Amino acid sequence: MDPRVLSPFDRLLDLAETGLRGSFARPVSSRPTPGIPGIQSDDPVRRRHAAGLMRVNHAGEIAAQGLYQGQALTARRPETQAALRQAAAEEGDHLAWCRVRIDELGSRPSLLNPLWYAGSVAIGAIAGLFGDQASLGFMAETERQVEGHLADHLDRLPADDQRSRAIVEQMQADEIGHGRAALAAGATMLPEPVPRLMRLAARVMTGTAYWI
Ligand SMILES: [Fe+2]
Ligand SMILES: [Fe+2]
Repeated sequence: MDPRVLSPFDRLLDLAETGLRGSFARPVSSRPTPGIPGIQSDDPVRRRHAAGLMRVNHAGEIAAQGLYQGQALTARRPETQAALRQAAAEEGDHLAWCRVRIDELGSRPSLLNPLWYAGSVAIGAIAGLFGDQASLGFMAETERQVEGHLADHLDRLPADDQRSRAIVEQMQADEIGHGRAALAAGATMLPEPVPRLMRLAARVMTGTAYWI
């Protein structure tokens, strides 16, 4: 359906559906999952650790989709709305890849995914109220933080888990591209303490999603 003819209620239902589908369903990716299927470490402790990290990444992608959908709700220019919805759709590949890997490792996604999604929609919608350039700045900062976080995961993932590493490496390359796109679209730098608060919120989410 043409998004311009959706009523606010339709849009809310649409958001709820996207959040629930992303949280628990197995979305189909537009690009194949990076790496060789099934490869994993033979040590169960390392496998469990990798599953925890991929669960965090999956929750992070749910949050990214929520942020961009929320920002699109309050963005002013149609071009910005379109760019944000496009970014949310591209994160769909990452979401699907993380889910594939969680399944391969015999684990499950975060039970709190709907909460991460709903909270992110709200935060994104508030960020959008500060104007399109600030909203794009929020997107650039989100991507920068996600990229740093993925670099940290590459340090922490088991060296013999080539499949998870290939997925995270491709995600990291994509996030760098998303950040550049936001800057090219006119993103402004966010003033402190906003980036610090974003890091704090991300720490709460990642710390919890590793376990729950
Ligand atoms: Fe992503
Ligand atoms: Fe991204």
